[in-house]
Amino acid sequence: MTAEYKVQGEVAVISMNNPPVNGLGYDTRLGIVQGLDKALADSSVRAVVITGAGKAFSGGADIREFGTPKALAEPNLRSVIAAVEASEKPVVAAIHSVAMGGGLELALGCHYRIAAPGAQIALPEVKLGLLPGAGGTQRLPRALGVEPALNMIVSGETIKSEMLAWVPEQKLFDKMAKSADSLLEEAVALAGKMAAKHADGAPLPRLRDLPCSHPQADAYFGFARNMIENMAKNYPAPLKCLDAVIAATQQKFDDGMATERRLFSELMVTPESAALRHVFFAQRAASKIPDVGKDVPLREIRKVAVIGAGTMGGGIAMNFLNAGIPVTMLEVKQEALDRGVGVMRKNYEARVKKGRLKQDKLDERMGLLSTTLDYADLKDADLVIEAVFEEMGVKEKVFKALDEVMKDGSILASNTSTLDVNKIAAFTRRPQDVVGLHFFSPANVMPLLEVVRGDKTAKDVLATVMKLAKKIRKTAVVAGVCDGFIGNRMVEQYVRQAGFMVDEGASPEQVDKAIEKFGFAMGPFRMGDLAGNDIGWAIRKRRAKENPDMKYSGTADLLCEMGRFGQKTNAGWYDYAPGKRKPIPSPVVAEMIEKYRKDQGITPRKISEREIVERLVYSLVNEGAHILEEGIANKASDIDVVYIFGYGFPAWRGGPMHYADHVGLFNVVAAMKRFAKNPMDDARFWQPAPLLARLVAEGKTFN
Ligand code: 3HC
Ligand code: NAI
Repeated sequence: MTAEYKVQGEVAVISMNNPPVNGLGYDTRLGIVQGLDKALADSSVRAVVITGAGKAFSGGADIREFGTPKALAEPNLRSVIAAVEASEKPVVAAIHSVAMGGGLELALGCHYRIAAPGAQIALPEVKLGLLPGAGGTQRLPRALGVEPALNMIVSGETIKSEMLAWVPEQKLFDKMAKSADSLLEEAVALAGKMAAKHADGAPLPRLRDLPCSHPQADAYFGFARNMIENMAKNYPAPLKCLDAVIAATQQKFDDGMATERRLFSELMVTPESAALRHVFFAQRAASKIPDVGKDVPLREIRKVAVIGAGTMGGGIAMNFLNAGIPVTMLEVKQEALDRGVGVMRKNYEARVKKGRLKQDKLDERMGLLSTTLDYADLKDADLVIEAVFEEMGVKEKVFKALDEVMKDGSILASNTSTLDVNKIAAFTRRPQDVVGLHFFSPANVMPLLEVVRGDKTAKDVLATVMKLAKKIRKTAVVAGVCDGFIGNRMVEQYVRQAGFMVDEGASPEQVDKAIEKFGFAMGPFRMGDLAGNDIGWAIRKRRAKENPDMKYSGTADLLCEMGRFGQKTNAGWYDYAPGKRKPIPSPVVAEMIEKYRKDQGITPRKISEREIVERLVYSLVNEGAHILEEGIANKASDIDVVYIFGYGFPAWRGGPMHYADHVGLFNVVAAMKRFAKNPMDDARFWQPAPLLARLVAEGKTFN
């Protein structure tokens, strides 16, 4: 049963019990209604408590049911809440841990609410491209006031129960429990008290009966609309959230509910919501590795060591310090250590200045950091992450040294972005303990972590680092060993296409603008300038030896020969004012490109925005299909996660593979065949990956 029923004295307790988060799926909804019926039919029961078993009150509607008949099957969530609200016996919501979305809406339908301190309260539907569809937009403004409610609904952010209890004149919580442990007991006592209070038939309090208004409604909503319009851009849900809240202030409760329902249904069928729901599940699915079950034991990670205090080493170390895990950093020279630690401190200080970090937290975090020049000081670390120069010889020295000193069972990780993790593992006598942990720059900010699984990486190592990733707030995706892993292998094809289009007639700014309009955070040329164009240059030089047939535009090499490495030299594809990041189209670059075209005998042509977007995105899709087929990625959705969290692909488009499914794989392949006919492009690359061709033939999708 997904909702349990028990009677404690005169109070019936209905506990939702649908692990992991008591999602309000069909069975749970039915269980609540059946429990309520039982309580109403039992004359010895005078009041009801609704709570959640396990680690949540409720995480809301069961998202897995969306789009299936079960989502709409009666009793649907609105019917459940209406039944609770109409109960003639008082119903108390006992809220702990998590009350989100439909879970909070259910609580809002109860007559009284008691919350444990620390409970996470939210209406996060907007993050799924939706709005609260079971009365949240109508009842929360009545409980909390229009402004705080609108903030919660439009942002979807989580607020701790005790913070909400401080909102002046709030009617969200009638009582704060002393602790989560005493919640149920206090809820039962409150229910009993309310039963006595209403024994004479006095009406039960219902949020729907409360007025809902704003003293300067026109001005406030006008201001809110402007703000939301600027912020929401390609996301349709936030403005509809506003419309629903306005309806709460202008319409009778039932009419407001109908408006909310209509807006919810409109959003449910948008591609943006489908994409965001895909991302929600994709992000969670990424942590699951097909052959690594939940029963695999984890290694304990209490101490971490980082080798190299450069750009990456410092950022990597900060992740662990932020999570309260002590870090020892090792370098070759004291100056390098001092420089690295100085950068980290400055980084924290900047956060303190902006009010994002308290000084005592800075001290606490830096207090967890120690430094050394001696490998012997690392031996007890449970995990060591190497972030030294990207040269196999240097990696070899480091891993051989680690193999000598590290205790048994210590995990040895490399942050290499291109080198073969199997080779690195072979420098040690314990390849089973070696794994790639590919952080993205800036490592303390970027949410993505590619976990590179070597041929011999042990399952418990993988399970441990996946769990650890969550602790340091990274979204981890497992990748197999290949040049570039998932993300950089795909981005190489994308950047190659960008170069071809510049050869053919587009300007760098035109390419960037088109793909940024599509939704990317940054176009390929701005990205190159940020990361450093010299990185791609080095890769192309290596490719020229390994794979001389690989075709590239010559403009990127010419750019580097001019010393235009990007923001760090104030000149790349764009010009930059010293210390500024705003890209200014460069006449010097335009001239270089024009000369290059002339030298190559190219007559430039106008390239449409659509072609730019299709060539860039479909290059990711085709390479992604190869990666999937080779088993470098476990699932198509893992590739989507990599692109959204590591490369600025618009989340509302769901990632390249989801987007391709949305466009239709048949159409994607048809476009590829067109591109293959372009003599300026790489016809071989545009041969659809066998997996892609097969999916088209079978009428299937990636996801
Ligand atoms: N429905 C179904 N499954 C859900 C769920 C939901 N609402 N919320 C979480 N889950 C599942 C996850 O998919 C995951 O499953 P898995 O173990 O099989 O991968 C599991 O619960 C645990 O999730 P997390 O890994 O995210 O666990 P955390 O402890 O880190 O976080 C949480 C828990 C805060 C509840 C977080 O999962 C969350 O934010 N969930 C989304 C809540 C949400 O968006 N609710 C609104 C739903 S829409 C709605 O209610 C519509 C209504 O207005 C009509
Ligand atoms: P960096 O040059 O900024 O830092 C490297 C540091 O390692 C230097 O401080 C150097 O003194 C130190 N070092 C060199 N040899 C050493 C040794 N034998 N023992 C101890 N320390 C040593 O380099 P960066 O950018 O931090 O890169 C480090 C690694 O991270 C490379 O493998 C790189 O490919 C990878 N990486 C880099 C990314 C980036 O954007 N910079 C992104 C992802 C991965």
